[in-house]
Amino acid sequence: MTARNAQAWANPPRVPPSHFVSGWVYRDPAIYDAEQAKIFRRVWRFAAHESEMPEAGAYRTFVHACEPMMVVRETGDRFAGFIDRAGPAGARLLPGPAGQCRSTRGLRPCRTAAKWGFVFVTLDPEAPDLDSYLGDALDIFRDVFEGREFSYEVFHFHQAIVEANWKAWQETILDLYHEFMHVVLRRTQMPATAMTARSLRQHRNGHVSIGGLRALYGNYQAYRVRSEGEALPGLTPDDARFTPLFPDTTIIARGTVLRVDTVTPLGPHRTLVESRGLGIKGESPADRRMRIRHHNDYWGPLGRNVPEDAYAAEACERAFGRGAALFQTIARDEDGRGQDDCGLRAFYAEWSRRLGRPACAPTNADAISRGEQEGKP
Ligand SMILES: [Fe+2]
Repeated sequence: MTARNAQAWANPPRVPPSHFVSGWVYRDPAIYDAEQAKIFRRVWRFAAHESEMPEAGAYRTFVHACEPMMVVRETGDRFAGFIDRAGPAGARLLPGPAGQCRSTRGLRPCRTAAKWGFVFVTLDPEAPDLDSYLGDALDIFRDVFEGREFSYEVFHFHQAIVEANWKAWQETILDLYHEFMHVVLRRTQMPATAMTARSLRQHRNGHVSIGGLRALYGNYQAYRVRSEGEALPGLTPDDARFTPLFPDTTIIARGTVLRVDTVTPLGPHRTLVESRGLGIKGESPADRRMRIRHHNDYWGPLGRNVPEDAYAAEACERAFGRGAALFQTIARDEDGRGQDDCGLRAFYAEWSRRLGRPACAPTNADAISRGEQEGKP
């Protein structure tokens, strides 16, 4: 292989258009605005878990598609979402992230639906219903949630600001190749199963599900082997599976504990990541302590996984967000197994479809660059 000169580095990689992404997707303000209009205002977005609104009138706030929003438990299992702006000045009504709502009169409602206790909203009156939007993407969790006599509840919530484009964070979920970066995964996950035992499935609407992962927790000095009795129903203690739902929500199980993540873009180079940890409602204090420990050891703000992902996303930002790296290659092809990039390709195929421009060449600058490579002016 010969060394590349500056012009060679500026040329797109020689892989199919579906197998690379232009650096402009991470930094062009016009693309950021188009994402808000064509993606975030159109999709179903996870708003809150039912346990966060324990009684009628309880609300939970969040930001979605640049709008301050809230979901409220109306009665029983009925939830309603609203844009939290009222009056001619659009003032916000609610003072905090959660509380009891006196009235929703005058607020603009939005479509709201729940699945397995996860409450979703959409700002698009024309969007297909939630079940159609999710399709079979959550099948990997059917035995965890369906037909259970208990319910789950959120026991942990934290927010983090990541100084990176929102897609750089989402890529840390979709890209299995980066497990090399995580010390714990190198010791516990990579030796646990053959790469061929893993399964990455692409679903309609850009969703992905990933299963067949295991973890040998005893291989990491600070951890211990997890017992059968500690596992959540439907899971084995060493199980790991997750579903990145397009574009911004991921449900993750690790044997004994669940996590739900959302990303909220705050600007082209700034992202809010919100993480919830879930256990079983009414479980014993000892079981809850175990679940909190397992959650925090790995996923907590000082755990051995999430801070490394934040570092990775911010490192990508330093390369792509400032234009130092021009293309992201997503070309690992392992037939839906191992460390296949097919999850990233599914994400960017849906991104391209919704934006009406290919992620490999989303701007005029890219078109010019491609023209030069092909010898056209
Ligand atoms: Fe990671």
